[in-house]
Amino acid sequence: MFEMDRGQTMTTLFTNLLSFQTWRGSIPKHQTVGFVPTMGALHAGHVSLIEQAKAECDVVVVSIYVNALQFNSDADFARYPRTAEHDLEVCTEAYVDAVFAPIKSELFPEDVVELLTPSRNALGYEGADRPGHFGGVATVVDRLFKLVQPSVAYFGLKDYQQVAVIKDMASQLHPDIVISPCQTMREDDGLAMSSRNRFLTPSGRKSAALLHAALKNAVTLWNGGNCQSQELVQSVTDYISQDSAIEVQYISVVRDGTMDQIQIVSENDVIVAAIVVDGVRLIDNMSFTNA
Ligand code: PAJ
Repeated sequence: MFEMDRGQTMTTLFTNLLSFQTWRGSIPKHQTVGFVPTMGALHAGHVSLIEQAKAECDVVVVSIYVNALQFNSDADFARYPRTAEHDLEVCTEAYVDAVFAPIKSELFPEDVVELLTPSRNALGYEGADRPGHFGGVATVVDRLFKLVQPSVAYFGLKDYQQVAVIKDMASQLHPDIVISPCQTMREDDGLAMSSRNRFLTPSGRKSAALLHAALKNAVTLWNGGNCQSQELVQSVTDYISQDSAIEVQYISVVRDGTMDQIQIVSENDVIVAAIVVDGVRLIDNMSFTNA
C-alpha cells in the first residue's frame, strides 16, 4: 500500500487484502460507500461512474482487477491493456478515496475457483458468444462485494447484459447493495467509449461509429411509429451493411432490464448489438425513448 499526493486529495492504493480490510473497517457505519468495479484502462466512461458515486456517497472505492475468469482466451486476457499508473492518476483527479487492486492469490486463494451460476439473463447474446463470461463476472463481483461491502455499486449500461446479470446476482446474494446503472459515455461521433477502441485501425474506427448511428436511426423509426422489432433490427442491419468491414454478431430488441426478446417494441425496451471490426468485438445498445 502506498499513498499519492497530487496536491489535491489523496487516493490510497491498496494491493494488500488485509490493509484494505483494515481501512474498510475504519469507515464509520453511518457513512455510505460507493463502489465502482473496473478492470482498469480507465477512460471517461469509468470516470462518469466515479463522478456519480462521488455525488451520491460519502466514500468512493474503485477496484482494478483484470479478471481472468471472464476472458474466453488466454490471448485476450494477455492483451487486455494494463495502465496502472494512468489509472491511479485518473482516480486521484476524480477524488476517489481508495483504489483496491488485489492480487489474484488473495482474491481467489483457493486452488480451484467454483464459479457462480449466473441467472437466465446470462443466456444468449454475450453469454452465447463468450461462453463462461458471465459466470466469471458474477463470481468476481460477488467476491469484491463481500470485501468492499458497498452501499451502492455503479455499473455502465454500455454493458447492458452485465447490468442485468449483476442485478440478479445481487438481489439473491447481496440484497442490501443498491445496483445503480449509469448512462453510456460516447466519443464525439457516438462510438461508445471502450478500452477495446484502442485496437481499432483509423478506418475501423470510422466503421465502428456506424453502429451508434444505426441504433439511433432505429429509435427514430420507432418514434415515427414503427413498433415491429424485426423491422427495426433489419434497419440496423441495412444501415451497417453499407460497410463491408463490419461483421454483425447479433442485433435484437429485448424487454427493459431483461434479455427477453420481444416482437412489439414499447418505450424503454432496448436494442442490443454486437459487431466485429478489425477483429475487435464491440457492443452497444440504445433504449427506445420518446424524442
Ligand atoms: P470494465 O470493462 O473495466 O468496466 C467497468 C465499468 O465501466 C462497467 O460497469 C462498464 O459497464 C463501465 N463502462 C465501460 N465503458 C463505459 C462507457 N462508455 N460509459 C459508461 N460506463 C462504461 O465491466 C467490467 O470492467 C468487468 O466486467 C467488471 C464488472 C469490473 C468485473 O470484472
